[in-house]
Amino acid sequence: MVSSTLLTISVACGLANAAPASWKGGWKPWPKHGHHEEGSGINVQLGPRPYYLVDDMDEGPLKEKLESCSNGPFHTSSFSIAHRGAPLMFPEHSREGYVAAARMGAGIIECDVSFTSDRGLVCRHSNCDLHYTTDILAHPDLAAKCTEPFTPYDPETGTPASAKCCTSDITLSEFKGLCAEMEATTFNAVNTSEYMGRIGSTPDWRTNMYAYSCAETMSLRDQIELVDSMDLNFTAEAKTPEIPMPFEGDYTQTDFIQQIVDTFEGEGIDANRVWLQSFLDDDIYYWLDNAPNFGQQAIYLDERADADASAYDAVVATLPSLADRGVKIMGPSSWMLVTVDNSTGKIVPSSYATTAKEAGLDIITWSFERSGPLENGGGYYYESVDSKINNDGDEYTVIDVIARQVGAKKIFSDWAATITYYANCMGLE
Ligand SMILES: *[C@@H]1O[C@H](CO)[C@@H](O)[C@H](O)[C@H]1NC(C)=O
Ligand SMILES: *[C@@H]1O[C@H](CO)[C@@H](O)[C@H](O)[C@H]1NC(C)=O
Ligand SMILES: *[C@@H]1O[C@H](CO)[C@@H](O)[C@H](O)[C@H]1NC(C)=O
Repeated sequence: MVSSTLLTISVACGLANAAPASWKGGWKPWPKHGHHEEGSGINVQLGPRPYYLVDDMDEGPLKEKLESCSNGPFHTSSFSIAHRGAPLMFPEHSREGYVAAARMGAGIIECDVSFTSDRGLVCRHSNCDLHYTTDILAHPDLAAKCTEPFTPYDPETGTPASAKCCTSDITLSEFKGLCAEMEATTFNAVNTSEYMGRIGSTPDWRTNMYAYSCAETMSLRDQIELVDSMDLNFTAEAKTPEIPMPFEGDYTQTDFIQQIVDTFEGEGIDANRVWLQSFLDDDIYYWLDNAPNFGQQAIYLDERADADASAYDAVVATLPSLADRGVKIMGPSSWMLVTVDNSTGKIVPSSYATTAKEAGLDIITWSFERSGPLENGGGYYYESVDSKINNDGDEYTVIDVIARQVGAKKIFSDWAATITYYANCMGLE
């Protein structure tokens, strides 16, 4: 446990760093304090949700342990990774969402990286999600540049409303003028204002509360400067291209993933503060071979069994050879790490988890707080243990197996408070 002085350090912070000229108006870096060795100094606040989840747990020693931590102290934990910011409630990859995640104790904040027409790097979950994560369709001049324009719902044929707007359709400065919105589209929209997330079909267990005023979109460089100003760390995913590469004939995937490294280096960020990620093994090998300081901490995101669960055993069998190739960290989704022991009825580590451990691979997994209410099994992220999932508090049962039995080093979530509470309670830094 960390001393309770952490809770009060931020009060003592006086000096703000002078903002570099590249910082745009509208936000200021957080003041730095003089106690770097003690962590970020952010006055971490977890809010009511972790308490709600603990209350909702089935009775037992884990619930008692988590209840025993209700008075904190709570502090930033590098075990807690903010997935897309705080998208349970805030528009994903917005400045507001990143700051909310920092307030909830995330030690590492994610930027998924895509690129603009002038090859600026920006934080978006997909190359082509601007039509359902931003207000681009409300800007006629920019909407006109979309790969596929907005087409309204056709009631005669039942064809859903559609559009396709890619980061590479617009310039970096045009991107920075967009507002981030909750991830949603409305299939039967007859106009763009019905189609977009704010009015459209945001799931009822999320909220549009923080999308009404403009949530700020960010370039990778903006995001690095923001996160660094809070003394937190970084994870950046090279998005698997949906745009044909090489882009415009000469911007290759290698150029793109090297540019990510160059951006961190250009901002003076040590590689040991950066966890790069990719679903593409070639990206991981490139970093291992050409930017080894970054490659050592790169996360190979593993969805190889997602499309076809029967591939699971074959995927597990590749883990030792990936370790031999130099891969250090595997990033499977949570369902791949757990299974039900039919003799005891308990959730236990999967063959993937035990094989990775034997091969000396670290595990970082995704993503909690993305599934909504759990009363019906929890869907994708819980699909290997869904027979044991029937109330929201079961989330902590799965987190506990993944943290203590699987031995995952870090966990991504859409609401950092949930993981920070667990990590602080269990003494995970
Ligand atoms: C960031 O990473 C550095 C290097 O690994 C580590 O010393 C520091 O404690 C980390 N900070 C946080 C907030 O996780
Ligand atoms: C969009 O369509 C809805 C439903 O027909 C209508 O109420 C709304 O005024 C329209 N908005 C615009 C901007 O045309
Ligand atoms: C438990 O039983 C289910 C079906 O009843 C099966 O799919 C699953 O693989 C079994 N788990 C283990 C660990 O054997």
